[in-house]
Amino acid sequence: MSQKNTENLSVIDAIEQRRSVKHYDPTHKMSRSEIERLLQLAALSPTAFNIQPTRYIVVQDEATKAAISPLAHNQPQVIESSVLFVLTGALDAYKNAARYWPDAPAEAQAGIVAAIKGSYEGKPQAQRDEALLSGGMAATTLMLAAKALGYDSCPMKGFDFAAVGKLLNVPENEVVVMMIAVGKKAAEPHRRAGTLGIDELVRWEDTAR
Ligand SMILES: Cc1cc2nc3c(=O)[nH]c(=O)nc-3n(C[C@H](O)[C@H](O)[C@H](O)COP(=O)(O)O)c2cc1C
Repeated sequence: MSQKNTENLSVIDAIEQRRSVKHYDPTHKMSRSEIERLLQLAALSPTAFNIQPTRYIVVQDEATKAAISPLAHNQPQVIESSVLFVLTGALDAYKNAARYWPDAPAEAQAGIVAAIKGSYEGKPQAQRDEALLSGGMAATTLMLAAKALGYDSCPMKGFDFAAVGKLLNVPENEVVVMMIAVGKKAAEPHRRAGTLGIDELVRWEDTAR
């Protein structure tokens, strides 16, 4: 079945319409160009120092999904989605950093490379924080882009990270960030569980001190 292309969906519409969808049409296949478009958009997400640590494993094979399913509490979206994206973060993305700034003037490039090294070298917590921060941002971009391309999604951390990483041969220098199921919605999600009001979420600076 063809997807309605909603590429003109506004950012605000995409934010308001995105929901975590659990059931998908298992017969629907996303084309290679649709998947690549989604990934190109996700890759535009901001990253600290532009080090772009997020990696995307594209899982479409039924046998691979069947192997992941029991590692993810048999959540239906693993099997039913068109694509299961497994996002990882490269802990060593800070290395060879000049390649992230090829067009910067030499002096500026040297300064940025030194700052990147100082921020992450020998600092495993900072490396991991960066992988998770940037991965979370990429995940949000991917889900909103999916919505704009006529698809729905479900972010997932309900799975055995170590086992899924092993199954997919995630290298030692990468940490699994989350999975995102993407596909054509087959059932509406539950009514929104409830969104906290900004009164509870926000402290204006005059009351935050
Ligand atoms: C980091 C993260 C992990 C999540 N893991 C799962 C999951 O494993 N399975 C699932 O069905 N939903 C998962 N969710 C979706 C949340 O349950 C959902 O975002 C929340 O209930 C709000 O609903 P909405 O996304 O439809 O607005 C996850 C969401 C986030 C941000």
